[in-house]
Amino acid sequence: MAHTMLTTPSYKKQQIPALMTESANKPALECLLTRQQIQQRVSELGMEISRDFAGQTVVLVGVLKGAATFVADLARAITVDCTFDFLAVSSYGMAMHSNSVRLIKDVDQPVEDRNIILVEDILDTGRTLCCLKNVLLARQPATLKIAALLDKPERRLCQIQADYVGFTIPNRFVVGYGMDFAERYRNLPDICLMPEDASTDVWE
Ligand code: IMP
Ligand code: MG
Repeated sequence: MAHTMLTTPSYKKQQIPALMTESANKPALECLLTRQQIQQRVSELGMEISRDFAGQTVVLVGVLKGAATFVADLARAITVDCTFDFLAVSSYGMAMHSNSVRLIKDVDQPVEDRNIILVEDILDTGRTLCCLKNVLLARQPATLKIAALLDKPERRLCQIQADYVGFTIPNRFVVGYGMDFAERYRNLPDICLMPEDASTDVWE
């Protein structure tokens, strides 16, 4: 499957498991990408990275917490020698809008002279990855690539592109497969759309 551009009419309605709905009067989340579609695409990205870095070693640097699930699956889809590390930046908090980017946890291992792949769940405005790219480039890695499972190009404010993109999606807020809304829904195996009128108190 090639890198897929998703459009709104192709969304497939799917009830989320009873465990996640908690009560009958909460709206079910609409599924954007099923676990099967995600696994298929992640294994393709793993093969692409393995081809690009044949005979070399790569370090996956995941951005906590959203990219942790993607890192875990991507690492297992990569066949070349691969280690992983994590960093963390200030998050959205309880809202859907990005704050300024602040590094709150650095990587544990040195970056210099290594093949770094910065792994993100979503490339949205681009502020996070622009900032992290500059931070890591200053440490002189051998190569620096970016892998983003999802890309929302409509919202871009900084000039940045990922080298490996899972899916290009429309400008909607999504949850699941590591991604949250007010820290919830990270454990959904599928990627789902938040209702456009969702507010945090509706979900408490
Ligand atoms: P950017 O700096 O605007 O590109 O933001 C990227 C970060 O915002 C991602 O790592 C996510 O943590 C978060 N984010 C952006 N869009 C979504 C979304 O639709 N769902 C969940 N988190 C999102
Ligand atoms: Mg994130």
